[in-house]
Amino acid sequence: MCGICASIGKGNQIEDVLKGLKRLEYRGYDSSGIALLKKAKIETIKSVGTINRLEEKVCGNDNSNVVIGHTRWATHGKVCKENSHPHLSFDGSVAIVHNGIIENFEELKKQLDGVEFHSQTDTEVFSNLIAKESGSSLEKLLSASKKVQGSFAIAVLFENEKKIYCAKRKSPLYVAIRQGQIMAASDISAFEDKFDFFYVLEDDEFAILSENKVEFFAADCTGIEKEQKMFEKTAFFEDFPDEKCFMRKEIAEQPIVLKRTSFKYFSEKVVSDETISKLKKFHNFHFVACGTAYHSALLGAEYLQRFAKKHCEVSVASEFRYGSQKINKKCLYVFVSQSGETADTIACASMVKEKGAKVLCVTNVPYCTLNNLADFILPTFAGKEIAVASTKAYVAQVFTMLILAGLMSEKDLSETLKRFVLSFQIKPFPEEILKEIFSYSKIFFVGRGQDYVTSLEGALKLKEIAYINCIGIAAGELKHGTLALVDDKTLVVVISTKKSMREKIENNIQEIKARGGKILLLSQFEHNVDVEYKIDLTAFDEEFMPIESIAFLQQLALAYALAEGYDPDKPRNLAKSVTVE
Ligand code: F6R
Repeated sequence: MCGICASIGKGNQIEDVLKGLKRLEYRGYDSSGIALLKKAKIETIKSVGTINRLEEKVCGNDNSNVVIGHTRWATHGKVCKENSHPHLSFDGSVAIVHNGIIENFEELKKQLDGVEFHSQTDTEVFSNLIAKESGSSLEKLLSASKKVQGSFAIAVLFENEKKIYCAKRKSPLYVAIRQGQIMAASDISAFEDKFDFFYVLEDDEFAILSENKVEFFAADCTGIEKEQKMFEKTAFFEDFPDEKCFMRKEIAEQPIVLKRTSFKYFSEKVVSDETISKLKKFHNFHFVACGTAYHSALLGAEYLQRFAKKHCEVSVASEFRYGSQKINKKCLYVFVSQSGETADTIACASMVKEKGAKVLCVTNVPYCTLNNLADFILPTFAGKEIAVASTKAYVAQVFTMLILAGLMSEKDLSETLKRFVLSFQIKPFPEEILKEIFSYSKIFFVGRGQDYVTSLEGALKLKEIAYINCIGIAAGELKHGTLALVDDKTLVVVISTKKSMREKIENNIQEIKARGGKILLLSQFEHNVDVEYKIDLTAFDEEFMPIESIAFLQQLALAYALAEGYDPDKPRNLAKSVTVE
């Protein structure tokens, strides 16, 4: 995972690199570091923890106009200062920051006989490989890159050279230029507030950033011209640097996100009628995604089946990638991803494309690797999502796929969808219930159909930010094993928004109660069974209920995390963008 950010220009660049790194912290925040060129020599400053900790270590005397930086999500080696980037070569002549994984690093390490390694990382091999090559700095970088297998986006400093060298393979890297400054980063969000133009580096291309120009090279060292892209200054760029808890803010933003999505699709028509006609021609859809995006894909498939009568399948990307299924050229493969940078999802999209099938990407970030592979793009309009646990992006995905199902259906759903966004609000999770249920640490989430999906997503939120070992399970599956775990210390969160399933859910509740389990029921209608706690949902049309019910479960997870004193925005061991497989 990890994020890299580098800057060269007039005056001290440290502040801009630190600022950029803060914006990339969603890619990892185990440790961080910068390398600077000072009097032609390379110096590094590193720290365990977030960029704020690194910032504290940078003192007034640290000043350089050539700086590279890194924020880390540990893949190889534990979280410690030695393993944090930048990594120097054995002779201190090369410093590197790296996002990706060097798959053959053990093998390469053996070839670097006599070199003393100071970290357990794969990256340290790369800086040493470069330093051991001969020729110009670019030639050294080119030959080292050829030996490396795996993925990388790198920024490299050479001593005695006022330049930053960049290269990439499979991991994203962007370069932005303006008068007096050039920056490179894993994501344009690192610098989009300052620049008007940027370049997208393609696999096996190289860039040399110097004080007043950037040069691009192909893998064979020949210079190339690259197309300049303009930043789309989105009207809804939400950047609240003082926000204490982004997850709370992002949950609260969900009604705005839905209104924006409705406006974009119905008024601005971001997806043309022509595209919709093309999509309608497909009868089979296969959704592929990871984590929360997988849950929204489950709902997307449900909506397409229900409203557009399509045949749908859904797979977890890491399983699909290595599965034995045949790629069907007549099927449309739908990749759902907030970031558009999730390694497994990207690998599946490339595989499907190589085999000649068409790809639809549902993404929240316009310039992302996944969109480069897309035949069709269905943008989501969640705006920037900072908290690691996805909330508003999930709801945006669900709603966008509902819009898609509506556009592809015989029945016009647009008026119902527009009406819903006007009345949907976030209702607070009842405090009195929260107080009573805080004592439970054994929690299950159950539901049927679309509510099963909500139970999966509710459980994932509670796991990832409150570190509670809970599960989401199909209500009908309980008695096939998991019921053995239910006792009088168990809280079962039952989501019941499908009228046709009411009696079945009542039976499930009885089964749980008979084992002493306590029930928290979320529903918009009455049930013929007594429960300990009940949250009355607003009665929207059934297809909107996953959006209404998940807002309560997001708030539940947030309340548990805050009660334990955890940072909900940066849960341990995780990163927002999972750019390694
Ligand atoms: C959980 C969460 C993750 C992501 C998953 C896929 O709250 O956010 O499970 O959904 O890592 O990420 P994207 O959507 O960027 O592909």
